[in-house]
Amino acid sequence: MLTYDVIVVGAGGAGMMAALSASEDKSLKVACISKVFPTRSHTGAAQGGINAAMGYRDSTDSPEKHFMDTVKGSDFLADQDAVEFFTSKMPEIISELDYYGVPFSRDGNGNIAQRPFGGASSPRTCYSADKTGHVILHSIYEQCLKNDVEFFDEWILLSLVVEDGNMTGIVVMDIKTGDILPMKAKSVVIASGGFGRTYWNRTTNAINMTGDGTAACFNAGIPLKDPEFVQFHPTGLASTGILLSEACRGEGGYLLNKDGERFMARYAPEKMELGPRDLVSRSIETEIKEGRGFGEGMNAYVLMDLRHLGKKKIMERLPQVRELAMEFEGVDMLEEPVPIRPSCHYMMGGIHVVDPQTLSTPIDGVHAAGECACVSLHGSNRLGGNSVADVVLFGKYAGIGAKETAHRRSFGSEVKLELETEAWKEKFKTIRNKKDGKNIVEIRNKMAQTMWDNVGIFRDEVEMKQALKDINQLINEYKDTFIGDPAVRYNMAFVNYVEIGNCLTLAKAIVMAAINRKESRGSHTRKDYPTRDDVNFLAHTLVHKKQDQYELEYIPVKITKYKPEERKY
Ligand code: FUM
Repeated sequence: MLTYDVIVVGAGGAGMMAALSASEDKSLKVACISKVFPTRSHTGAAQGGINAAMGYRDSTDSPEKHFMDTVKGSDFLADQDAVEFFTSKMPEIISELDYYGVPFSRDGNGNIAQRPFGGASSPRTCYSADKTGHVILHSIYEQCLKNDVEFFDEWILLSLVVEDGNMTGIVVMDIKTGDILPMKAKSVVIASGGFGRTYWNRTTNAINMTGDGTAACFNAGIPLKDPEFVQFHPTGLASTGILLSEACRGEGGYLLNKDGERFMARYAPEKMELGPRDLVSRSIETEIKEGRGFGEGMNAYVLMDLRHLGKKKIMERLPQVRELAMEFEGVDMLEEPVPIRPSCHYMMGGIHVVDPQTLSTPIDGVHAAGECACVSLHGSNRLGGNSVADVVLFGKYAGIGAKETAHRRSFGSEVKLELETEAWKEKFKTIRNKKDGKNIVEIRNKMAQTMWDNVGIFRDEVEMKQALKDINQLINEYKDTFIGDPAVRYNMAFVNYVEIGNCLTLAKAIVMAAINRKESRGSHTRKDYPTRDDVNFLAHTLVHKKQDQYELEYIPVKITKYKPEERKY
């Protein structure tokens, strides 16, 4: 059986930082499994930058200000001990990345360049043009290779195995060969990214962001925290939902309605286009609803105008977004404004992490970092630029935590690992040989439609109950799925089948938690409960899965320095 001291699931920013820090200890064998080649992980899609109070562009900036902005941005749902740890460590992490060779853009003094981002009181987003995540991935991949991390590319996680309360390992599939096998570990770091593909038809997320690690933890008994908080990035391309970076607004882009008005003056008179994402997304949707957008229904949009920035600045700072707008929207931003509309971007909720410094979860031996996890750093609304920061910082500390765990724990029983592996082999055989049944693509599309229509930016009880009914029905139909591909090797239809199962599992948790949170906070906007309710809901949701039943519980938010107040921008 494949046996490692530390296994990391996911090779994005969080996974590779975890693998890198665990592998600093040469006595440990460290493996990293990934559905895609590591440098193609979704961190590569993070365009605009990474937040740290370096103070290069504004010498009055500080980790304390970064702390206050993050807590306010979270609508006071973030755990303040976690936020303080994060903001105080971020400057040091940027220096580490610089040392690893990340080619950051530079200012006139040779310092790492910083740009303004939404909800921030200082320009503290460090960047490399508009390819920040991409260059970070490449640099840390090189460091992992130097440290002899063993990569297993194009492997998918099927189960996290917990026997009598002890984590013993994972079950995986080598997609290339179709082999399904157990892997034993003393500690596991889940860093498999978010699950934005629950909103399949309008998301900035790569096609493989289906929450495999989050669902595996949930199925193994680790609760999900705050899944109802789904971030809609204000500026997805109108036709596809592909990300058009917040850096566009950070560099001075305007949002315009059909009357040519910079409508953000109505919603965030001080911050304008640089309000936090929840507020800007709601504002765009309100303009569309009230008839000041262009187009109709799913095809409605407003405009982002960058022409006044000039060719030199756009080509130097935003070359990739210009290409994306040309390729996918047919618009050259040097010449014309770009049609945009909010797009599902990020999950604030995820695997319940209990300690921000080790990223441990309620099950000993399991750590979680990055978008799949909920620390909670972002509360009910994440600030742009805090995600790449989250993955590298908490990825590093998850690796340190996993290393300590591996020294403390010993290898467990193989009994359940073997049983679970056999069960998956049987399932693979049955599903790929099935001759008819429900079409998996139809199930996926219906899930996406009900999530977008009924659990979107504006929500109410009636619509969300409809979504719950739809998702329950789809979960039933999923039991009779037909995938139409009998192949053993490279059976991507089976991979999609597993992924859609994970999305359905998590979609149900999103909907149930959203129905039960009878208030509006951050990204969770209820038409029927339009205000924040700190008396009843200044609390994290925990969703537990017991067999097929989901149960909700609430736990307190950790508030240290900054008492909840009204959020104004
Ligand atoms: O807009 C962006 O460049 C995305 C950044 C983020 O989600 O942090």
